[in-house]
Amino acid sequence: MRVKDFAIDEIFDSRGNSTIEAGIAVGNGFAFYASVPAGKSRGSREAAVVGFTEASSAKNLRRLAALKGKDFPNQRSFDEFLIKLDGTEDKRMIGGNVMLGLSMAFARALSANRKMELWESLQKEFFGKAAQRTWKPVIFSNLINGGEHARNDLDIQEYMVLVKTQGDVKSAVKRLISFYRDLGEKLGTMKRVSNIPIGDEGGYSLDFKNNFEPLAILSDLVRKKGLSGTFRLGMDAAANGFFSGGAYSFGGKKVTAPKLAGIYEGYCKKVPALYSIEDPFSERDTAGFALLSKKLEGRIVVGDDLTVTNRRLIEECAEKGLIGGVIIKPNQAGTVTEAIEAVQGAHERGIRTIVSHRSGETDDAFIIHVAKAAGAYGVKIGAPARERIFKFNELVRIA
Ligand code: PGA
Ligand code: ZN
Repeated sequence: MRVKDFAIDEIFDSRGNSTIEAGIAVGNGFAFYASVPAGKSRGSREAAVVGFTEASSAKNLRRLAALKGKDFPNQRSFDEFLIKLDGTEDKRMIGGNVMLGLSMAFARALSANRKMELWESLQKEFFGKAAQRTWKPVIFSNLINGGEHARNDLDIQEYMVLVKTQGDVKSAVKRLISFYRDLGEKLGTMKRVSNIPIGDEGGYSLDFKNNFEPLAILSDLVRKKGLSGTFRLGMDAAANGFFSGGAYSFGGKKVTAPKLAGIYEGYCKKVPALYSIEDPFSERDTAGFALLSKKLEGRIVVGDDLTVTNRRLIEECAEKGLIGGVIIKPNQAGTVTEAIEAVQGAHERGIRTIVSHRSGETDDAFIIHVAKAAGAYGVKIGAPARERIFKFNELVRIA
């Protein structure tokens, strides 16, 4: 497919921060757009993010002009061309966010050209015959926000419910929406507030007695609502955020990795529904990950800042026994092809994949299509409210 033209525009994410929208115009005269989210608690090995001024500088536009008039038979050839054009390990020349926007817009153009849904087009190219057409994703929904996503006293960044969809996504989403409302009422009554503050991903963000209290509240409500059969719990500690000088500042104390592993293990004993713990240690603390993975049999330790949607890192971590699950964020990788390769690397090693949004989101629901194309274990899309609802609606439509 021939690229006629491209555009780099500035739009704003859910936090009001500047982000990139990219456009690709193809031979038939149509244009396709995509927008890129932004993370706040980022791993240090993620693809580089450039600001709009740099993204749209004369120099960058001249560099990208090499796309014009070029024919690309598929997604991989487009992405490989961009990677070469950039020429750096971390995509700082063009900007990983700019590259991803163009890559996503091109994927949309390609799917229209192939007269397919986006997920179908991606599946055909990258998964071929191995593709699974029935998909029953688990929804990871962040309902209580702490850490860098909220102004409260929680060290843990996210407390999630993990909702099984079991072939009926719409009913699952309805159950989740009503649970989210009930939780709001319960927290309002418990903490005596009428307007509960909301964090970056739509979750409630009040002060709690300690890092354990949100888990106790969530598990209690799951039980009371009779949802134990389809709802489990998860946390994203995002521990880079409370690690410094070789120790973790947790619950007002400095603790070592083994001590923190013991605390997580205690949480699992007290709340058997707690199934997944993401980034329980900082991104360099592989010993912590290994220790916890051994302790938590039957549950999953999930890599995010640890693995940054990088196939090689995911494979290494899988081989060392550090993780049972991995977060897939296309903007950590910087192109659609590389994000999908990360999924493939994980699946080949039996690691569960969870395709994820970022804290600064747009209304673009591209990740839902990546998740379906790949037959991912889960989708992580925040609370079922505000700008996040677009992704829930797309999930209901295509799953
Ligand atoms: P971020 O956080 O999008 O702010 O990086 C999300 C996460 O840590 O999973
Ligand atoms: Zn995370």
